Amino acid sequence: MVGILHFPNTTIGKKIIMALSGAIWLGFLAGHMVGNLKIFMGAEHFNEYAHGLRTLGEPILVYGQALWIARLVVVPALVLHVWAAITLSLLNMQARDSKYVQHRKLNANAAQLSMIFGGIALFLFIIFHLMHFTLGVLVHPSFNPNDPYHNVIAGFQSYFYIPAVIYLIALAALSLHLYHGTWSMFQTLGLNNKTYTKSLRILAWLVAISITAGFALVPLSVMFGVVG
Ligand code: HEM
Repeated sequence: MVGILHFPNTTIGKKIIMALSGAIWLGFLAGHMVGNLKIFMGAEHFNEYAHGLRTLGEPILVYGQALWIARLVVVPALVLHVWAAITLSLLNMQARDSKYVQHRKLNANAAQLSMIFGGIALFLFIIFHLMHFTLGVLVHPSFNPNDPYHNVIAGFQSYFYIPAVIYLIALAALSLHLYHGTWSMFQTLGLNNKTYTKSLRILAWLVAISITAGFALVPLSVMFGVVG
């Protein structure tokens, strides 16, 4: 029992928490990206989809309940992911100070730094994104809670497309984070071995690029007048 309670304090425990919470977000992002592509089917379809997220599971669930259940999964997953990232970094820093660990590979450090700074940037982006499209406060010019299609188009068209550019920069950070994160997840779950390393690296890139490219299509299409 004590062993189980101690598990999250171990390096492997934290890595498993990072991998599982990261996998939850990967699933959420894949679903969110595919859902966003409905914007190319027009306002009616896109708004119907956003409405459908709230009526999902009716009449067993009440209006909005499925969305809240999803939030009860993704929000704690994000909290655990950030907690594990911070405490793992602290453990790594302590290990680096110790005289037993003399050398670390430079590229491993670069990946670690990109994960930390990219992670902070993505966290700030999520706050901006929620204010922009979910709450419609401060950063949206004409938010209408009943018209998500309008919110996305007007939100990207506003302020000389600066919000759209912010999204594209965040998506570049997301692609690096997803690549390193997916690759680390494979390692933590023990999937990599000499035979599969190359294929798993390619798979990690494919996951990262397909999700971010799918997201990027929306702001790019608004900027180039394909939708709007
Ligand atoms: C171009 C890219 C994106 C677009 C157009 C977009 C669009 C939207 C829209 C319209 C909503 C509100 C949905 C509604 O209330 O009906 C939303 C919610 C949300 N998005 Fe995005 N999104 C994008 C990228 C992202 C990314 C990269 C992340 C995470 C890193 C993300 C995380 C979220 C979260 C957490 C919510 C709140 C869901 C909720 O609890 O209601 N989105 N997004």
